[in-house]
Amino acid sequence: MEGGITDKIRSVLYPIKNRLFPGSREYWEERYRQGGDSGVGSYGKIAEFKAEVINEFVMKNGIDTITEFGCGDGNQLSLFDVPDYVGLDVSERAVESCKERFKHDDGKRFFLYEPENFDVVARRLKADLTLSLDVIFHIIEDDTYELYMEHLFDSANKFVIIYSDNVDTKQRYHVKRRRFTEWVDTKARGWGLTRRIKNRYPEISESDFYVYRKAP
Ligand SMILES: C[S@@+](CC[C@H](N)C(=O)[O-])C[C@H]1O[C@@H](n2cnc3c(N)ncnc32)[C@H](O)[C@@H]1O
Repeated sequence: MEGGITDKIRSVLYPIKNRLFPGSREYWEERYRQGGDSGVGSYGKIAEFKAEVINEFVMKNGIDTITEFGCGDGNQLSLFDVPDYVGLDVSERAVESCKERFKHDDGKRFFLYEPENFDVVARRLKADLTLSLDVIFHIIEDDTYELYMEHLFDSANKFVIIYSDNVDTKQRYHVKRRRFTEWVDTKARGWGLTRRIKNRYPEISESDFYVYRKAP
């Protein structure tokens, strides 16, 4: 009953709140500028679980180069044991703080990601593996989502790993869940899902890992 009332209040409040949403890029820029971080999924036991999966995958599959689309504040990255890494983010503030945090690590580089000006070939950012961790459900704009998915897959030579939930829902301010597997099935030619790794802490996060491989 209580859930019912809460849902009713939400259904009235969110359309109003959504109208005040400044846009994904602006939202994250402002959040970081105000001292905010990448969120619960980038800290604590969820971050440790994500790092365990990524580190094991990188080691077992001999991954030499990685590009992450939406690297965030760098806390999650600090737990990764990865070789040649490029982090991209739409927030200038996030990119600048990652540059500062990892300035003594030659294996990590960071760039501002501007979806509408991004050219995979020209930027020479092709990597063995591309990562999208806790980002897809934060992309509110449909055209940005399209570009993001294209760039994520076009930039990978062998593997793409997505950590996300996989359902379509309406926007709730800075969250809009998407059934991204449908996009991959219909638009990423030559790519196949090889593994799904369920979350160890489903009570905290609804995201799972989806590992895609390019057909040889
Ligand atoms: C929840 S944080 C996750 C950060 C990191 N991947 C992690 O797992 O800790 C989401 C990040 O995605 C970035 N982001 C939002 N929209 C994006 C887009 N269209 N392309 C790339 N990054 C985006 C935000 O700026 C933010 O840093």
